[in-house]
Amino acid sequence: METKTRENWSSKAGFILAAAGSAIGLGNIWKFPYSVGTNGGGAYVAVYLLFLVLIGTPLMLAAITLGRKTQLSVFGAYKSIDRRWSFVGFLAVICGFVILAFYSSVGGWILYYFKNAVMGNLNTKDPQVLASIFSNMMNSPATLIVYQLIFMALTMLIVINGIKKGIEVTSKVMMPGLFILLIIIAIRSVTLEGSMEGIKFLLVPDFSKITLEVAKNAMAQVFFSLSIGMGVMITYGSYLDKEVNLLSTAVSIPALDTLAALVAGFATIPAVFALGFEVGEGPGLMFITLPAVFASMPLGQIFCIAFFLMVTFAALTSSMSMLEISVSYFVDELQKDRKKSTLAVGIVIFLMGIPASLSLVQGSSFYIGSLSFFDIYDKLSSNILLTTGAFLLSIFVAWILTTKEAVKEIELSGIRFKLAPVWSFLVKYVVPVGVFIILFNSYKDFIIALLN
Ligand code: TRP
Repeated sequence: METKTRENWSSKAGFILAAAGSAIGLGNIWKFPYSVGTNGGGAYVAVYLLFLVLIGTPLMLAAITLGRKTQLSVFGAYKSIDRRWSFVGFLAVICGFVILAFYSSVGGWILYYFKNAVMGNLNTKDPQVLASIFSNMMNSPATLIVYQLIFMALTMLIVINGIKKGIEVTSKVMMPGLFILLIIIAIRSVTLEGSMEGIKFLLVPDFSKITLEVAKNAMAQVFFSLSIGMGVMITYGSYLDKEVNLLSTAVSIPALDTLAALVAGFATIPAVFALGFEVGEGPGLMFITLPAVFASMPLGQIFCIAFFLMVTFAALTSSMSMLEISVSYFVDELQKDRKKSTLAVGIVIFLMGIPASLSLVQGSSFYIGSLSFFDIYDKLSSNILLTTGAFLLSIFVAWILTTKEAVKEIELSGIRFKLAPVWSFLVKYVVPVGVFIILFNSYKDFIIALLN
């Protein structure tokens, strides 16, 4: 693997674009706003931000540094430093399968909404009509599966053809476009009559709402949103030149990612209150609320089409990064053909995703205990696998690679890492202990839910 000359990012901007492309996706635009709604509002946002600063950002630096130091993707990176740790790469592959199995289902909803936006079917403010469009989709197995298949096929096409360059270029237009659009939607949302309630819900934490459950979900969301815990950032970091300033890079990705999530929150939640939707709606929140916001804007349909198109791209740059990790295991580690591996892995993920989609249909029997397959994949990937991956990453960088070596790597570009002692302390103690406490509870709750 090392004998091949490795391609490096053409520029630091290229890396940031790809890493931000992986990080910014459905996690920010779809999941964050509805999780704020189901986890008690401002309290969840506060815990999220706390974990982002104390755990997510230090781990982002750890991941990128590990990648650049070893110049290897996730499998090689762990293995090259300590053979006994090669199982982490394997964990990453499993995690990629599980996340993408439900991510592609949601990707399908986005495509379906894009089509409906183009056809002008979403042009209403009536909560009931919008709720029924969503529930009709949820109750049509054929629609769910066909659109999931299209989303998976698009992801596979990108990974097979290595048109990542093309995606990179397209992202250069789509990502800033998405940001601008989200800001416009957020402005419309907060200026709607009756939005104040929603702004307060987002910003004013009711600390009595902070429970272990909220903390658990917030931590899982940090890892999911930053694409941390499954080796994406290690792999991307491995393509960085030694001159690149890792510090500013490791800070800008979480900053951009969080900005996107917060703006999406402002685009959605105030409108929920202003237009008479239900804040604890769950996964349907964005799909039923945002069309109503578009309907209350001049040129609403155009904004609606542009929005779902840009979210499609954001979702694809994320799904591509997940599939890439699993495929590269077969290509790099097992010397399999790239095209065949992508097809095989993609098809298996699609098949795994079918029960996830079908479990959403009312009266479905795709349940284990109290959890639908959709929830099982979601919880298994974020609460269990990513959180385990993040825990292992911190232990590995802190104690196996050692923070001293990591700091050396960080300072290679000629910068002085003044906060090195703080970062080392976080990665050695705060992150592993904090993540472990949550992880322990996540295992417990997950098993209980499966048995119930
Ligand atoms: N971060 C992406 C989002 O917010 C999802 C994602 C892409 C991801 N690659 C990942 C999550 C790897 C965990 C691990 O939508």
